[in-house]
Amino acid sequence: MVTPRITVNGNDTPIAPAAPHTTMLDLLRERGLTGTKEGCAEGECGACSILVARPGVNKPTDWVAVNACLIPAASLDGQEVITSEGLATPGEPGTPATLHPVQEEMAVRGGSQCGYCTPGFICSMASEYYRPDRCAHAADAADADAGADADADADADAAAEHGPNGFDLHALSGNLCRCTGYRPIRDAAFAVGAPAEDDPLARRREQAPPEPAATAYTQDERTFLRPGTLTEALRLLRERPDTVVVAGSTDWGVEVNIRSRRADHVIAVDRLPELRELRVGSDHVEIGAALTLTEIERRLDGAVPLLADLFPQFASRLIRNGATLGGNLGTGSPIGDSPPVLLALEATLTLADADGERQVPLADYFTGYRQSVRRRDELIRSVRVPLPLSPVTAFHKIAKRRFDDISSVAIAFALDIEDGIVRKARIGLGGVAATPIRALETEAALEGEAWTASTVEAAARALRAEGTPMDDHRASAGYRSAMLGQSLLKLYAQTTEAVSS
Ligand code: FES
Ligand code: FES
Repeated sequence: MVTPRITVNGNDTPIAPAAPHTTMLDLLRERGLTGTKEGCAEGECGACSILVARPGVNKPTDWVAVNACLIPAASLDGQEVITSEGLATPGEPGTPATLHPVQEEMAVRGGSQCGYCTPGFICSMASEYYRPDRCAHAADAADADAGADADADADADAAAEHGPNGFDLHALSGNLCRCTGYRPIRDAAFAVGAPAEDDPLARRREQAPPEPAATAYTQDERTFLRPGTLTEALRLLRERPDTVVVAGSTDWGVEVNIRSRRADHVIAVDRLPELRELRVGSDHVEIGAALTLTEIERRLDGAVPLLADLFPQFASRLIRNGATLGGNLGTGSPIGDSPPVLLALEATLTLADADGERQVPLADYFTGYRQSVRRRDELIRSVRVPLPLSPVTAFHKIAKRRFDDISSVAIAFALDIEDGIVRKARIGLGGVAATPIRALETEAALEGEAWTASTVEAAARALRAEGTPMDDHRASAGYRSAMLGQSLLKLYAQTTEAVSS
């Protein structure tokens, strides 16, 4: 057996004798890299943020920030990782290190008090600092400013979330600070410039990241496997139906940390090339199940507006850098955010097993609470979205916080409205039943009718009665029903505003 090894801050780091479920956070801290902190151990605070060299969208490599508390260290076999310690440049003996530009700005602008969250903020900030199109965004913003007063509200929103340096504050949406307050942190983020020509991490982006290593790591009779091909992965799944399949590990990592779950056999599928293709064809868009949500968001670049609506509301950037559509559908959660959107888009899943593939409409996929038609020896290979897309779309997520929260209710609309008549309506709902569902009664109440206030009010009554919402700690059943109806009224108000403006 070859011991998995990771290059951490340029140093070769064998994983053994850590257990296969040991997180990257625990491994780093055991090896003395205690800058990476544990705040929550469930992907919500960002104190554990680290940088990983991953296939880039606009350059061969992106420095991608991820939650080290969720990722098994073994899943990073052969990969390059940078922690907050690795960002500074060590000085000669007896002289201090030179801070990274991001660290420097955080220091001089008072972005750190107790410092517990700071290394995580630094890594998330560094990922955005190295995003290749960040500076291009800054140039676009400058051009827009020169064009002046087109839309003051939109400018104000953009200004609140993007710095003059193109820094997107959403890059920090997965990082919490409990004592500094966010203004000095934002000041630091908006003050960083472009990386210098000789910046080693900026230059590293020009070469491809390490290939994923085929990993087979066993300790104490537990095994972590990264098969090299889809064929191998499907064979393993057939041999061991008890296998836990992970991609970004954003769900399984929580189970391991918070519920102390352990699996004898885990396989990682997130780097299988067959699951990472994205194609825009003439009659459908095919999205690989193991592409991360960030990759899909950046590669589609708005080509599917309903997905573009979804992504900013789907957890934090740190989570989206690891989470996949395959994982969100594979867990079968009734409150996953992607199913309502994919139901409204009439998506179909390609399920693969060792004998071949089959297509399953997402509307037929879920069979019960966290259950689906997917057999244990099958993998979701891709998600297919048919074209053309319906032109009127919206995703409304009702949650206690605006970002980085679990939905109380999620509603996705995709409507064809021609000459004032609703020709087709597809509505996906999450959080109102044991599975994500289509709002079939509401769709029927809209189709063939004029898109008017009276039609919408009648359809909103039907929408309030869809599903079987429950009372729980997030929301009452009554609130959930009320939000369904309000969501359709809101969509109507938005479409008529758009028509009249
Ligand atoms: Fe909180 Fe990892 S420790 S996100
Ligand atoms: Fe104390 Fe952020 S500086 S939690």
